[in-house]
Amino acid sequence: MTNAQSYDEAYADWIRDPAAWWASEAYGITWDKKWDKAFDPGMGPYGQWFAGGMLNTCYNCLDRHVENGRGEQAALIWDSPMTGQVKTFTYAEMLARTEKLAGALAALGVGKGDRVVIYMPMVPEAAVAMLATARLGAIHSVVFGGFAAAELSTRIADAKPKVIVTASCGLEPGRVVKYKPLLDAAIAMSSHKPDALLVLQRPQAEATMIAGRDHDFEAAVAAAAPHGCVPVLATDPLYILYTSGTTGKPKGVVRDNGGNAVALWNSMRMIYGVDAGEVWWTASDVGWVVGHSYIVYGPLLRGCTTVMYEGKPVGTPDPGAFWRVIAQHKVKVLFTAPTAMRAIKQQDPEGTFAKKYDLSSLDALFLAGERCDPPTAVWVSELLGKPVVDHWWQTETGWAITAGFRQFGLFPFLPGSGGRPCPGYDLHALDDAGQELPRGETGNLSIRLPLPPGCGPTLWQDDANYKRSYLSDFPGWYRTGDAGIVDKNGDVWVMGRTDDIINVAGHRLSTGSMEEVLAAHKDVAECAVIGAKDELKGQTPIGLVVLKAGVDRPHAEVAAELVALVRERIGPVAAFKDARVVPRLPKTRSGKILRATIRKIADGEEAAVPPTIEDPAALDEMRAALGVGVA
Ligand code: COA
Ligand code: AMP
Repeated sequence: MTNAQSYDEAYADWIRDPAAWWASEAYGITWDKKWDKAFDPGMGPYGQWFAGGMLNTCYNCLDRHVENGRGEQAALIWDSPMTGQVKTFTYAEMLARTEKLAGALAALGVGKGDRVVIYMPMVPEAAVAMLATARLGAIHSVVFGGFAAAELSTRIADAKPKVIVTASCGLEPGRVVKYKPLLDAAIAMSSHKPDALLVLQRPQAEATMIAGRDHDFEAAVAAAAPHGCVPVLATDPLYILYTSGTTGKPKGVVRDNGGNAVALWNSMRMIYGVDAGEVWWTASDVGWVVGHSYIVYGPLLRGCTTVMYEGKPVGTPDPGAFWRVIAQHKVKVLFTAPTAMRAIKQQDPEGTFAKKYDLSSLDALFLAGERCDPPTAVWVSELLGKPVVDHWWQTETGWAITAGFRQFGLFPFLPGSGGRPCPGYDLHALDDAGQELPRGETGNLSIRLPLPPGCGPTLWQDDANYKRSYLSDFPGWYRTGDAGIVDKNGDVWVMGRTDDIINVAGHRLSTGSMEEVLAAHKDVAECAVIGAKDELKGQTPIGLVVLKAGVDRPHAEVAAELVALVRERIGPVAAFKDARVVPRLPKTRSGKILRATIRKIADGEEAAVPPTIEDPAALDEMRAALGVGVA
């Protein structure tokens, strides 16, 4: 473990000998067999960590803590304002549930290397399902509940699960989301069919079961024999998490067992300053990478108590919900997305609700998922009087690329900055030709290979796509897809994506996939989807469509159909509520749609007329369509 006294010392220690640095961090994990090589450059697209080592991630999250006397400590507190329940599970109880669910999955034929898709709301059984899958050496793929059947189907077809674990429903404010019909539809659409489903029946909606295929979750667990941990290679996949790429087809990011365990175990103390026995809360969803790393694996690997929250920052029941949870469970560190803070700020700008609760347990607030706008960062830091740390990462990396470090003493508060590179990341801004830019200049934020442990070493069964997507533009580097600056002090300022990915309420979405849906409408000739600035969600999608010649229908009618189509095909999470019919789209002379220019117009920014534009008048038409006035 690093005993460095300062960030500079830790970073210098790491860069001097990365393999030795990570090998010394790996002592926090219990290994069934020590690795042969801390880093093997010959494996995968750029190499792999802890090659030859063997471990079981579930053992490291549960069994060893029980063996070491933490059996009676709370492992997971489920706080669900959606159902009015709070339930605490000790490490011993979590282990007992997980062993039995592993037994039930094994009885359905799941073994090492098999895939299990988990499509569940924020219930403890979702975490138990992830851990039980890991226990068997199998590979889980959790799909976020806000995706529609078609998106779920794509993931099922790609991951080819033997079993799917689901629940009868999720709960959204004012709405019960019935999962089972969505899942049945997804399976019907998928070329791959699972052998079996385990269905957790929730009282808010009873799922209809298909005899022979569907099994009741509780009954299967009750009937199962506890199953032990199956050791796997450190380089074997723990999970696949699908995330938006620039096309309609999501990317299956693979996370391996060894690197994930070492990186997350280390990050809990180095970045977040939280250790065994302390209470930690990530307000996200297990369907996102933040949920994988910091609702489930990170805190449990470290022996912390993790809070799992089924609710919203506002409306469940009020903008004091987060402060209530912190006070009630004595949360030491909260991790959430800036959009949650903006939602609270919007409803309670004076912070009156925060003043009703004893927040003395809270040491710090960490934010990620999108850049935190400085006014929100300042507002919440003044409200809480505690450090607020914005840190930058992505599904692919699995943990922070840049951050502040509680182990070394936090950097001065710089609203808008994502902190400095974590030991493990040699980060630089490159120009479009792949040359390193001087500090302070904006470029393509890129990480010199190899990536550290914990980062996705490949895409599911697709090394070639991994290389093409991340490694081919700048040989020797991983391209993050974000533009930004590393300034003269080493502070990193992330400016936004350089591709077609947008961030809506901290949710990563592809405008390309929305365009595919719009283009499939019978009346649409061509379209563009852009992410426009939004006060609450950071960005929201706007769809601009040109109708086919001769289509003479009310524009509002077509727009409503397009909104419904995106919700049906991608899901409510796309938050696609704004479609507009335009006479044409601004294009270059070679026919490329000028999306970046359209986005600038939507955001009210100065949009220079691109020299390659086909007809500058198209920009004024776009200004009119977006209601920002003609320049
Ligand atoms: N299952 C089904 N539907 C879901 C869902 C789920 N798990 N999660 C969200 N949805 C639905 C919402 O109900 C909403 O539907 P609607 O169009 O019928 O209202 C839609 O998807 C869009 O959701 P969202 O963008 O989250 O908007 P919201 O208005 O419901 O909530 C916030 C806004 C800011 C309160 C909410 O986004 C939030 O709490 N964010 C916290 C940050 C977070 O979790 N980030 C994840 C990455 S760290
Ligand atoms: P996801 O894979 O869903 O975690 O989304 C990753 C993307 O979200 C990154 O590539 C960034 O564009 C954006 N992002 C996440 N965290 C931050 C942050 N702290 N600052 C700026 N952008 C962020």
